[in-house]
Amino acid sequence: MKQSGREKWNKRYKKGAYSARSYPSDLLVKWLPKVQNQSKELHAIDIACGTGRNSIYLAQNGWQVDSLDISEVALSILEKKILKENLSIRCINKDLECTLSRNNGFLVDANYDLVVVIRYTNLSLINNLHRILKPGGYLIVEEHLVTTRKVIGPQNPKYRVAPQALNDASTGLEIISYQEGIVEDPDNRLAALAQLIARKPS
Ligand SMILES: C[S@@+](CC[C@H](N)C(=O)[O-])C[C@H]1O[C@@H](n2cnc3c(N)ncnc32)[C@H](O)[C@@H]1O
Repeated sequence: MKQSGREKWNKRYKKGAYSARSYPSDLLVKWLPKVQNQSKELHAIDIACGTGRNSIYLAQNGWQVDSLDISEVALSILEKKILKENLSIRCINKDLECTLSRNNGFLVDANYDLVVVIRYTNLSLINNLHRILKPGGYLIVEEHLVTTRKVIGPQNPKYRVAPQALNDASTGLEIISYQEGIVEDPDNRLAALAQLIARKPS
């Protein structure tokens, strides 16, 4: 029987997937000071957060964070870190593919200052994210890019974006920065990435 996305990811996290990748995304670290405004309460959502390396970085920098993932195993690892460090993070266990197709409210009522999607490929989701951003709010996205180079990330091109596809999916947003290329991660491994910073017009 074919295993569901939830089963697949739970199995990976039970085996310790990404446990050595505790550092936040370089893209997030570079752009966070530029997107942070003077508001007292800043709300972000980290979509497909995994065990929360980027959520934790956001919370440590004063943000109130919703951390969403399909894997309850990943979220339970994050919950332990939240308790240990007393972080302002709320975990949400949802399958984004169902969320989109059933339009069950997640994309309707929310209103974030910042939406972060790091290394989770779902272009139809990106297409809809302007709906959960406040006017003036920012979107930070990093996706694995189709490449012939030997790099980390999914082997199946279905889970990578074609050149320009991420740029084209950012409907309703003003693009601040868009880059594609080979990037060296802090663990010295190479990744082919498309990186987008966009803003919802005020
Ligand atoms: C490569 S990991 C990236 C995790 C995290 N963003 C990071 O940068 O460390 C991809 C994540 O997407 C989540 N995911 C996959 N399919 C999903 C879905 N349909 N709905 C929500 N999350 C999903 C997985 O559980 C996994 O945590």
